[in-house]
Amino acid sequence: MTEEEKKPQEIPQKRRRPYAGGALLIAITALIVILFTGGIAYAVQSLIGSAQEEVVEGVLVDGVREFRISASQWYFGPGSIKVNPGETVRFIVTSVDITHGFAINEMDVNLPLAPSGEIAREVVVPADIPEGTYTMYCSIFCGIGHPYMKGSIIIGDPGVGIGRILPYVATLVMAGMFAAFIVIGRRRAR
Ligand code: CUA
Repeated sequence: MTEEEKKPQEIPQKRRRPYAGGALLIAITALIVILFTGGIAYAVQSLIGSAQEEVVEGVLVDGVREFRISASQWYFGPGSIKVNPGETVRFIVTSVDITHGFAINEMDVNLPLAPSGEIAREVVVPADIPEGTYTMYCSIFCGIGHPYMKGSIIIGDPGVGIGRILPYVATLVMAGMFAAFIVIGRRRAR
């Protein structure tokens, strides 16, 4: 008699626990899926980006850092250059096709390029400019790709940016969560 009364009481109590665990499992799985897809997307994006952007440091001519840059629909070649604060830089920019512009706001550069034209300009990189990555862009409308006609100019040594380490951090977090999952799963299975 006493044993039969106990049994129906124990069953509903046991059923509650797997339900709470299931909700947590779904929440953690969703979080992992978000982190995983986000991490993969970011890693692929940065891989493609770094493969395309070979940073060019120019040539030193009598103490002046010289860059020969071509402008065409709709990119600059090279698309990524590096200079140092305080140094004199000479840009020799040539348009391969139509009218373009070559502009770097932080260095007060804005050169108009005639079709198949060339322009040279010497500028001093401000000595007190914060080290980092800036944008060089086309400043004259040149067609449908004009808004995307951009390159990057690295000034100084910005070091390791958060964008470069984020995919690795995401991967580490994911690996940690999977490991925790396995440990918890094994403890519950006992
Ligand atoms: Cu090239 Cu606008």
